[in-house]
Amino acid sequence: MQKKLFRSILLGFGLLGSVAIAWRFVARLRPLPTPPWLSGLWENPLGKSIRAEILIQRAGLKPGMRVLDAGCGAGRITIPAALVVGDEGEVIALDLQPGMLDIVMARAKAAGISNVRFMLSGLGEEMLPSNRFDRAIMSTVLGEIPDQVAAMKEIAYSLKPGGIVSVTELIVDPHYQSIKTIRLLAKKVGLVETAVFGNNFSYTINLRKPLPQA
Ligand SMILES: C[S@@+](CC[C@H](N)C(=O)[O-])C[C@H]1O[C@@H](n2cnc3c(N)ncnc32)[C@H](O)[C@@H]1O
Repeated sequence: MQKKLFRSILLGFGLLGSVAIAWRFVARLRPLPTPPWLSGLWENPLGKSIRAEILIQRAGLKPGMRVLDAGCGAGRITIPAALVVGDEGEVIALDLQPGMLDIVMARAKAAGISNVRFMLSGLGEEMLPSNRFDRAIMSTVLGEIPDQVAAMKEIAYSLKPGGIVSVTELIVDPHYQSIKTIRLLAKKVGLVETAVFGNNFSYTINLRKPLPQA
């Protein structure tokens, strides 16, 4: 009986591992957005090291700030971020998929939050306003975007001078991007590294938009 259970658990893990490896392989050939039915991907022990409160603290969110949650997914970061910035601030929940925004809208409504705006757009489509945000949060999103330079350029454009984009990556994500990739991207779009948290398996890197030269 115990042997059977052990074999089933082993089989389950094997199956999960194979799916993760296959997905990572396919994602390298063709980046695909995480579908809404998988929106709870990081809202379990798998995403423990990148819990919303941790990312909000790393990004340095404060009351009154304007924040872009870029590739917000189901809003696991959007809602707590909106609570931190309060009524004087606002959070723009941006995602490519209407199904994700539907979930965030329902969550915001259930939480009685009114300082979240929703934006259906792909990063890199040049729909964001200029010099608008104090912070942008980009958690486990970059690897899903085919034109990463265009996406980062748009985020840099939308930040206020001195504003920060806080990029987080997690190794178990099939779309994981190395910190080297992020540093290269930052250089290409003129953002300056200000802080790194975590380790190579799970990290956040903060990139600042420079102030204009006097
Ligand atoms: C793995 S989920 C992460 C969601 C959320 N940031 C989090 O940490 O829970 C990635 C999200 O990025 C979105 N996404 C992918 N490509 C995008 C793009 N080009 N523009 C905007 N959102 C995008 C997907 O639709 C998906 O909701």
